Amino acid sequence: MDENLTTLTHELHEYGVAHDADKPDRLDRLRNLEPDSAALLALLVRATNARNLLELGTSNGYSTLWLADAVRANGGRMTSVELDPARSAEAASNLDRAGLRSVVDLRIQDAADALSRSADSQWDMVFLDAERPAYRSYWPDLVRVLRPGGLLAVDNVLSHADQVADFRALVTADDRVGEALTPTGAGVLLIVRHQ
Ligand SMILES: C[S@@+](CC[C@H](N)C(=O)[O-])C[C@H]1O[C@@H](n2cnc3c(N)ncnc32)[C@H](O)[C@@H]1O
Repeated sequence: MDENLTTLTHELHEYGVAHDADKPDRLDRLRNLEPDSAALLALLVRATNARNLLELGTSNGYSTLWLADAVRANGGRMTSVELDPARSAEAASNLDRAGLRSVVDLRIQDAADALSRSADSQWDMVFLDAERPAYRSYWPDLVRVLRPGGLLAVDNVLSHADQVADFRALVTADDRVGEALTPTGAGVLLIVRHQ
């Protein structure tokens, strides 16, 4: 990550924390990924040489910046979907500032729709960071759209363990995948689709 992007990600992190501090309604918050988790995901993109990445839940693009920088280093591209047009517009502006706009296909789209329209094995990596109660219903498509050996990362599995318990039970019972929980940030569950 170059100096400009490091400065921008620091700035956005601070902005996000301040923005969310006085918002009692969770849905009004930006809910950006913790910097440690963002760094972990960016490292995993590079380590796995992911070139086709799908992010579900853009918000204002904090995690998108980290992922896009890493995926560009691999010569790849990513798609990031968000329901809220204003947030997606903010993400576009932040990606512009970072010189990363051309790496990311930003879509105003429901995560379920993005998944159902994805081809089998389309994605090297998927980052899931949207509304947790829906995750269980995404599972069949999540496995289908990951390429064999592909990686799924899910945030907030420790901070909101109760809300993802049913999703986690599905993952654990599915012998097509393996999983490991990293206690970084809010807890990132890593799931690999077996070859
Ligand atoms: C936790 S925030 C994402 C934070 C972002 N990944 C980051 O680190 O900056 C969740 C975002 O998902 C969006 N969202 C919620 N449900 C969605 C859905 N079904 N499809 C697409 N986006 C959704 C919300 O509007 C919100 O901006």
